[in-house]
Amino acid sequence: KKRVAILISGRGSNMSALIEAAKAPDYPAEIVAVIANKADAAGLDVARANGIPAFAIPHRDFASKPEHENAVSQALHAEKTDIVCLAGYMRIISPEFVSAWEGKMLNIHPSLLPLFKGLHTHEQVLEAGMRVHGCTVHFVTAGMDEGPIITQTAISVNIGDTPDTLAERVLSVEHETYVRALALVASGKAVMKNGRTVFRD
Ligand code: GAR
Repeated sequence: KKRVAILISGRGSNMSALIEAAKAPDYPAEIVAVIANKADAAGLDVARANGIPAFAIPHRDFASKPEHENAVSQALHAEKTDIVCLAGYMRIISPEFVSAWEGKMLNIHPSLLPLFKGLHTHEQVLEAGMRVHGCTVHFVTAGMDEGPIITQTAISVNIGDTPDTLAERVLSVEHETYVRALALVASGKAVMKNGRTVFRD
């Protein structure tokens, strides 16, 4: 099994979905650590309740981004991490950290990329008049929300939807989408090669 660390900033519902999925004996990944960049991230308690080592490495405790990322790197290596999953981790990651984990770091984003990068995706979708929306799990590359796609799930935009109703429906498909993506990567069925995702059976 691949050893997976999850990076969070808050609630951690995607983290919880990955923890639950990884309890299945045939799931190809195990969750070995959860790291938050905020001391009060609610997901830390959920991880601990599941017996997973969980700790905060608050970016505010460090003078610079490289120093914070070095501390995170050390923690990842101490847990012999094979794959890093960003799950609501609201920090921009330096190119150095990205290249250290190239092809081994995944992120979930609440839109159908390459549409609607960045923040406030549900507002962006409504503003654009979209009638479909969804989520994407992709390999992390230097460009924010730009890495090769691993899995996506689409939902309909309904009459009367608001940013909140969309956020709730997208979140509920995020969980299964992330579980599928991590299984594909951990089993070697999805590999990043030359900036693209290559799928194998
Ligand atoms: C999720 O909707 C995730 O897609 C989004 O934050 C939420 C985290 O929820 N991520 C981003 O916007 C990344 N820029 P969670 O903490 O319950 O998993």
